Amino acid sequence: MTRLLPMQLLVVLGLTFVSGHLADASEPTPIEIFNQRIMPIFRSPQPSSCVQCHLASVDLKAYILPSHEATFVSLRDQGLINLEAPAESKILTLIRMGQKDLDEGARLIHEKTRQSEYAAFAAWIKACCEDPAIRNLAKLAVTRLAKPEVPDEVIRHARKSRVVDSFTRIVWSQRMRCFPCHTPHEIDPSNPKHQAALKTQREFKAKFSDDQLAKLDIFRETPAATLRYLIQRSRDTPAGELPLINVREPRNSLLVLKPTSKLPQKRADGTFEPASSVAPVSHMGGLKMHPNDQSYKSFVAWLQDYANVTSGRYTSVEDLPADNWHGTNLVLRLAGAPEDWPVGVPVQLFVHARKGTGDGWEPVPVAFTQGTVTPRRMVNGGLFRITANATAATSGAAGNPGTLPRGDYLIKVYVDSNDRLAENPVGLLGPDDYVGQAELTGARWREGFRQAEQISGQSLQRH
Ligand code: HEC
Ligand code: HEC
Repeated sequence: MTRLLPMQLLVVLGLTFVSGHLADASEPTPIEIFNQRIMPIFRSPQPSSCVQCHLASVDLKAYILPSHEATFVSLRDQGLINLEAPAESKILTLIRMGQKDLDEGARLIHEKTRQSEYAAFAAWIKACCEDPAIRNLAKLAVTRLAKPEVPDEVIRHARKSRVVDSFTRIVWSQRMRCFPCHTPHEIDPSNPKHQAALKTQREFKAKFSDDQLAKLDIFRETPAATLRYLIQRSRDTPAGELPLINVREPRNSLLVLKPTSKLPQKRADGTFEPASSVAPVSHMGGLKMHPNDQSYKSFVAWLQDYANVTSGRYTSVEDLPADNWHGTNLVLRLAGAPEDWPVGVPVQLFVHARKGTGDGWEPVPVAFTQGTVTPRRMVNGGLFRITANATAATSGAAGNPGTLPRGDYLIKVYVDSNDRLAENPVGLLGPDDYVGQAELTGARWREGFRQAEQISGQSLQRH
């Protein structure tokens, strides 16, 4: 058994140094603890342990003021200090959050920082709460409270797990458009339909250096691993190349520029020039996405949101995007587009469910897609379910968000005749662009282009 010194024994028995003179001799005063252990956190250029889960908008520093007493009063008056049970103070709970992270890697990376923050705050709060003079300090003017500058909703929106969740719903869900070149984990050697994909992969191995092959491996085993890779490679972008994720100009991210660019020029001997990763970009995979299709839209929506989050551009609840799209493999097609819709014009199709009463249609759509009028006068697109909010999209509160129930639907059609999407590619068109609607009866919503649900552009009626 370890021998306990008398003072440690007191602590073990839960006896705190209320008698004063004992504490004076051995314990640093609250202000000493503050100066020695809290001020270094305040002054540190390094982010606090909160970055383990919060990409932006909140840092422990935000709760600290240069004055010891002001910091205490500020925390106390925000309800972040529990005067009667200092160890249960809410600020300590916030610091301890990281211990619960299911992501063990992240938990370990931030463990040291978290523990020293925790120890510093715990010791300082305890010492303050034991000192009646500090406990009872007068209130601060509300404007002087030290706290994050943005509302809780913005803080929640800037959480890493929310960003990964959004990435999963609107970027990862579209990855099969990059099959098989950038999706090695989706190729199943035992699947007879994947033999061509395996051949492509073999050709790549023969043709490209290890370095080039590594760059092809964009979609990793999980959304989180993919996102980690994209962020890392964007930070390490070689000079003279555009980054995969361009936080300054999200639409100039290589992640959308490559698949919307053509093959490089051909040389006289029939081989291709190397692909360019600066403007004008070229893509060895050729044109795989149209700047007005639904995947381009969702990629750009995610890129813009990520850029806004990481640059701290959101300041109020009104700034936040709804972030409630969920990629599916369901396809909606409009055939026979009216002659006055030019080829190439973007069209949005919104899916409305029947009202629960069976009488008329829900005003809020359950899904949408976007495409352009093709030379064969069709508009095709994979559907995005629209859920009440991001949480509903993930938890499946509205049923499995990857499917829609069989039944009758109303499709409302909007044509971008006024070029609104050129300005704002992630926008949804409104009443000014409405051209008509058609009922889709007995929809079965099976997956894939071959089994698309279809309406006719000739049957549209204005309502
Ligand atoms: C393990 C992950 C994790 C860590 C680490 C973490 N938080 Fe959070 N934080 C969350 C989650 C999850 C929410 C959202 C809770 C919700 O939506 O109800 C949140 C929300 C918040 C909010 C908004 C108010 C609220 O309760 O929803 C604040 C403020 C906050 N955290 C501060 C901090 C501070 C300060 C730190 C660092 C000392 C920190 N957090 C560390 C996960 C974490
Ligand atoms: C038929 C194969 C093929 C398909 C499908 C394809 N690509 Fe590519 N992609 C390539 C090749 C080959 C390269 C390497 C040469 C280059 O940079 O163009 C490449 C390069 C890229 C790069 C640059 C990677 C880097 O780190 O430099 C990005 C980004 C990219 N593709 C995105 C996409 C996206 C997104 C899709 C799907 C919407 C897609 N590609 C579909 C073949 C393909």
